[in-house]
Amino acid sequence: MSTGLSKTGLSDAGQSAGLHVLGRLDQVPVGEGRAFGVDGEQIAVFRLRDGSLRALSAVCPHKGGPIADGTIDQALVMCPLHQHSFELDTGCSTTGAGPLRSYPVHADGEGNIILQLP
Ligand code: FES
Repeated sequence: MSTGLSKTGLSDAGQSAGLHVLGRLDQVPVGEGRAFGVDGEQIAVFRLRDGSLRALSAVCPHKGGPIADGTIDQALVMCPLHQHSFELDTGCSTTGAGPLRSYPVHADGEGNIILQLP
């Protein structure tokens, strides 16, 4: 991971604050999600139609479905396996499943996806 971080010019302070460079923004098509492995966790990053990003844990709490492959709108992602829905902002389920963890994520000025882990 440190080699990826150094390429993007993140400072040591940034790394200690839990910032991770996941790669180029264009890996995630608009309106879709992609899963990334970060520090042993699977994180689903979504690129909304307004261009903003959201990040949630990538494993559905219902039966382990691939959240990054879910269908999204501006507010919700729906798990592809049994259609439980989760708020993209909070990870809370709107259909009675357990919550997904949500993470701060943004794109930097150079088109890299920056994720913050606690
Ligand atoms: S595994 Fe996601 S809804 Fe069942």
